[in-house]
Amino acid sequence: MDTLSKLKSHGSWVGRWTFILAATGSAVGLGNIWGFPYKAGTNGGGAFVLIYLLCILAIGIPIMISEIIIGRRSGNSPINAMRLAARDSNTTSMWQLVGWSGIIAGILILSFYSVIAGICLNYIFLAAASGGVDSAEQFGNVTSSPINLLTWHTIFMLITCSVVSAGIHAGIGRVVKVLMPMLGILLIFMVINGILSGGFMQAFAFLFAPDFSEVDSNTFLSAMGQAFFSLSLGMGSIMAYGAYMPKEQKIISTSFTVASLDTLVAIFAGLAIFPIIFAFGLEPNSGPGLVFESLQTAFIEMDYGQIIGPIFFILLSIAALSSSISLLEPGVAFISEEGLLSRKNAAILISLVAWFLGIGTALSFNIWSDFNLTPGRNFLDSMDFIANQILLPLGGMFIAIFVGWFMDKNLIKEELGNVNPVLFGLWKFFVRFIAPLAVAVIFYNAIFG
Ligand code: PFF
Repeated sequence: MDTLSKLKSHGSWVGRWTFILAATGSAVGLGNIWGFPYKAGTNGGGAFVLIYLLCILAIGIPIMISEIIIGRRSGNSPINAMRLAARDSNTTSMWQLVGWSGIIAGILILSFYSVIAGICLNYIFLAAASGGVDSAEQFGNVTSSPINLLTWHTIFMLITCSVVSAGIHAGIGRVVKVLMPMLGILLIFMVINGILSGGFMQAFAFLFAPDFSEVDSNTFLSAMGQAFFSLSLGMGSIMAYGAYMPKEQKIISTSFTVASLDTLVAIFAGLAIFPIIFAFGLEPNSGPGLVFESLQTAFIEMDYGQIIGPIFFILLSIAALSSSISLLEPGVAFISEEGLLSRKNAAILISLVAWFLGIGTALSFNIWSDFNLTPGRNFLDSMDFIANQILLPLGGMFIAIFVGWFMDKNLIKEELGNVNPVLFGLWKFFVRFIAPLAVAVIFYNAIFG
């Protein structure tokens, strides 16, 4: 027998809800609360939201189902899950490259994710204490100091590493059961605050009334990239979490639940943020600075802003932590199941690599701001571009092609169990044709269009 039979087991989630909470925790993150609102803001509001929803339905959910099928079938990290699925389908072991690319993408994303999440942690305290300051100046002070950024980056990475090193059950499983309900409560509080702020109707119209004049091929690329990133697809996080999913849990309905919760949080985040932006007469399309500058301006000016502001940044930090642990998990699972290092040491090793790469991102805000790692992009933008615009969509596309065209049908049926044949047929059609084609067309357009 080959080495695949000697892999160490990781155990599984206890109960049906743990997978849902963990996968939703992975999906709901900075992408929803920071990324989605500013991307919708700069891409025509409702038009972007509509295209985004289409991407979730036509590409995201079919690929999420595929990732869970591969993961749960093997119970192992994405690299070995792909090797096993390929072996049992009598096809080439080259498919494991999808797992490798995923783990690399995960480390790249974690490196900058942790720097931004560190800024969120920093803002919990700044928002509590910032009467009478200028928010743009404040953001400038936060990001111009490498020491400040690196300190918060280090703190966030340490927290992430300690959760993952405690394991599936005692670490990730336990933490998401506390964090996710907290996140829900804080978000509902923020939406109610939005409703009361006076700008709610304007925000509602902004998010749901489509303005197609701003739509071009880049809008599609941005919406698709956002859909992949937001659902944590194409890099093995969901595959890794799927590996710990109990066998009796239904894959299709669970995927719909996770994707719906993720989308709901993104829209709620918009409904929490934009009313405040409009009520204070600020610009909705200010880009990445939407949360740290525009929204912070409103927190500084509003009544009780020194309470509401920190609540918002706690919400953002919780969302970031439940995602960052899922970025670290696939690589840690691989190293530990191979018996190369203990889970704890594997977590330390990968965190160190991501932490080290994160230095580049931290410096791209200040002393390296003019240094381009790829043409026209500084360090942070390059990491984001390589991982989110290239590796995740390509990973997702190959996962769809593998499950749609190469994976043994009996293996797929075993994992899906009894499903409505119409639903199965639809899924199959989307995985075989729509998802790979859509990714290919969007890529082509973005590069040559
Ligand atoms: N889904 C997370 C977010 O929206 O912020 C980010 C993320 C986590 C992306 C895990 C990819 C991933 F594997």
